[in-house]
Amino acid sequence: MSVRFSRRCADGSCNPFGGSPIYRHLSTDSTMERARERLTAGDPHGTVVIAEYQSAGRGRGAARSWAAKPGSSLLFTVLLRLETVSSRSEPPARFGLTPLVVGLGVAEAVESWTAEPVRLKWPNDLYLRDRKLAGVLCRYRDNAVLAGVGVNCNQRGFPPEIKGRAIALREMWGGPVARYKLFVDILARLQVHLKREERFGPAMLAAVNDRLYMRGCEVSFRAPDGKVVGGTVIEADSDGRLVLENGSGERRNYISGEILVGRRP
Ligand code: BTN
Repeated sequence: MSVRFSRRCADGSCNPFGGSPIYRHLSTDSTMERARERLTAGDPHGTVVIAEYQSAGRGRGAARSWAAKPGSSLLFTVLLRLETVSSRSEPPARFGLTPLVVGLGVAEAVESWTAEPVRLKWPNDLYLRDRKLAGVLCRYRDNAVLAGVGVNCNQRGFPPEIKGRAIALREMWGGPVARYKLFVDILARLQVHLKREERFGPAMLAAVNDRLYMRGCEVSFRAPDGKVVGGTVIEADSDGRLVLENGSGERRNYISGEILVGRRP
């Protein structure tokens, strides 16, 4: 398994997380797994694992995977060590907001290149032109968060099961995407957004909600118990839960679930 170690990004700049290590794999099963090893090995906050290809990329939920041809996507995981000591197994309060804050950094970076709005589809997807551009996967372990990001960059097409629902940046730019430049930009934004004092502040929550996909729209929503309910997307709350309002004006905060389809007003 070939892995290169550096403290610098491809453009020669230092890892914005204080020059922490960046491990670059040509091929691995999942950067989440490699980042977990770096956590156990004692690597510092802001350590990054990036891969050209993952043979077993993971998505949210037990059955979900993230597949991409070699070199087509930007695939990485950042190790975030938490400042306050909490339980080894239970995530801290407000952990649910983390994927949205990570998504915010990715969305801003992409937008600075595309000048088209990138939305945060609760709880962990990024949407462009009503199609999925990127996904975020956050896992809590041993007082740290492993924040995984996958961005569709240079795909020329998608498998039939997601065709029409996924988009790659190449389609917007009309040519190959400099993935590593985008990576440097994203990393710099994550370093700022994920600082302890800012991570869960009101300004961050407002920025997340400004980008919330289908906000103010009626959607079908698969609740954690599997039932599909209808409601209007109100906002993400300060714990990262989705607030939905039903036809009678009652609001409910969901910790998990999935927005299925939406109708714009
Ligand atoms: C989702 O869409 O459900 C989340 C996808 C997250 C994919 C990224 S790719 C880099 C990192 N390594 C993984 O195995 N998964 C995340």
